[in-house]
Amino acid sequence: MNISNKTVLITGGGSGIGFAIAKTLSEKNNKVIITGRSEGRLKDAVAKLNNVSYFVADVTKEDDVTKLVDYLNKQHPALDVLINNAGQAFAYELNETPAYENAIAEIQTNYLSVIRLTDKLLPSLKEKAGAAIVNVTSVLAIAPSHDLPTYSATKAALHSYTQALRYSLANTRIKVFELYPPLVNTELSAGIGGENGIPPQQVADEFIQGVEADNFNIRVGFAAQFWDAHLKNPDEAFKALNSRR
Ligand SMILES: NC(=O)c1ccc[n+]([C@@H]2O[C@H](COP(=O)([O-])OP(=O)(O)OC[C@H]3O[C@@H](n4cnc5c(N)ncnc54)[C@H](OP(=O)(O)O)[C@@H]3O)[C@@H](O)[C@H]2O)c1
Repeated sequence: MNISNKTVLITGGGSGIGFAIAKTLSEKNNKVIITGRSEGRLKDAVAKLNNVSYFVADVTKEDDVTKLVDYLNKQHPALDVLINNAGQAFAYELNETPAYENAIAEIQTNYLSVIRLTDKLLPSLKEKAGAAIVNVTSVLAIAPSHDLPTYSATKAALHSYTQALRYSLANTRIKVFELYPPLVNTELSAGIGGENGIPPQQVADEFIQGVEADNFNIRVGFAAQFWDAHLKNPDEAFKALNSRR
């Protein structure tokens, strides 16, 4: 699909992958709205970009999401692209650290919040020609990493939901994309060797190419190689993934 002259919401667009996508989309003549919890971060991001505005909202808080959707309906009624990018990850080992509290935080941010925001924006997206929903999962949606155990599970859940959503919306004008980054050098990956990851801009560039080609599963860099390995032999691919990190 064509991805210019659109109005795009990017959750977590103040940093990392979301920021790189905001920058690239704004340079392609899109109007972009970014959200996040930290106003300072959003202000700094907007100051570096053209045609980008922000709204402070915690995607895990129902009240914030209601206010965000009201704001969008009033100020940006043309919104036609939703990019669910905000995410949170805890690096730990299941045999060393209790998982439950980490899992609650991750499942709320990475999975349940995506479903709530999507529910609330679907009615207006359905009215638009050329609408899209993009869910940012991960290479770890394909198979889990032992040191990001409950995070990997949230991304697998989001992958599953995304597949079902695409199927359900097949007879509407909304296209549903899934973006699977590999290890990317951002704040989120700082504790897991993120400095060895690819730059966020590479994800943004491959994302644009994927959307323009109507490639609904955009597996970036190593995620594409890992997908092939997983299809050939899931057990071996899992072992290889968990021995290399
Ligand atoms: N980095 C990687 O290696 C990697 C690999 C695969 C997939 N991903 C995925 O890519 C996406 C972007 O992550 P990133 O690597 O770019 O990390 P990042 O730079 O830490 O960005 C995450 C963004 O999400 C926002 N955020 C977090 N919790 C939020 C909440 N409750 N409500 C609203 N915004 C929230 C953060 O802003 P505030 O703190 O201001 O709220 C931040 O701007 C995530 O979904 C992540 O899982 C990353």
